[in-house]
Amino acid sequence: DWTMRAYREEAVAAIREQIGDKKVICALSGGVDSSVAAALIHEAVGDQLTCVFVDHGLLRKNEAEEVVGMFRDHMNLHVIHADEVDLFLGELDGVSDPETKRKIIGRLFIDVFQKYANEIEGAEFLAQGTLYPDVIESVSFSGGPSVTIKSHHNVGGLPEKMGLKLVEPLRELFKDEVRALGAELGLPAHFIGRHPFPGPGLAIRCPGEITRQKLDILREADAVYIDQIRKHGLYDEIWQAFVAILPVRTVGVMGDGRTYDFACALRAVTSVDGMTADYYPFSHEFLGDTATRIINEVPGINRVTYDITSKPPGTIEWE
Ligand code: XMP
Repeated sequence: DWTMRAYREEAVAAIREQIGDKKVICALSGGVDSSVAAALIHEAVGDQLTCVFVDHGLLRKNEAEEVVGMFRDHMNLHVIHADEVDLFLGELDGVSDPETKRKIIGRLFIDVFQKYANEIEGAEFLAQGTLYPDVIESVSFSGGPSVTIKSHHNVGGLPEKMGLKLVEPLRELFKDEVRALGAELGLPAHFIGRHPFPGPGLAIRCPGEITRQKLDILREADAVYIDQIRKHGLYDEIWQAFVAILPVRTVGVMGDGRTYDFACALRAVTSVDGMTADYYPFSHEFLGDTATRIINEVPGINRVTYDITSKPPGTIEWE
């Protein structure tokens, strides 16, 4: 794509100009935005960039290995894999209120990122994958009355606190342009096309108390569901699809035995920007086959439901 090649060259030159010979750090989430920002900055300043990938134990199956592996081994970025699973799950133990979960995760994320960032001597810049719609949104929302439905976490406020200057090379781009730029930079197509994944991760797909057992079951069920969606060629038609594990056990029968296991809900929506969404109209055959596969392949689940709530009145995530 000619436009993206030109944009890439201009952006690389601008980043070199801004950063000079200083060091820059970046919180890599594995999402499209932070990934493209990191790849672009790496192209501009190479080893002056260090990425911190915070593993909070709320990631999907194999996610940490895949993200860190791709950036470290295939793209040669310097990535710190911060394994803080025990810290996050420890603090979340016994917590079931959605906003409390979000606040704990947001606070710990900033603490952890800061701890690792402080070890990188001489870092003067913080890179963020802020997009044009984020810039617009924060401007148009400031001042006006607003209701907080869910508190999102990001590293906002950190730059001032740590005395860092911001590098935001995607500030002029929309999501589809970021994807095109990612392709131009050589990120694999399956990576660029990934569904959005929320910062608090699986915590908000596990209503009620979070336990390691529930998270393990959720990861397995989610992997089967996404595999089904990919096999049926539906992944790119859907904005987001995931499983939520419900805080309830139900009775079932398998073979000639009684089961008493968790129920789960499948979620899939179409959307343009995540602000409104419609539930995805899967065929009954697809839903039935997927339920059968999950129950057969995932010990701990014996009942599968499909969430047919659109947004509004529902939200996309369960918490
Ligand atoms: P809701 O559930 O509010 O989600 O309809 C709208 C979109 O935002 C994502 N989401 C988050 N993303 N941090 C994020 O980075 C968060 O705390 C967060 N909460 C929700 C959600 O996955 C959906 O794409």
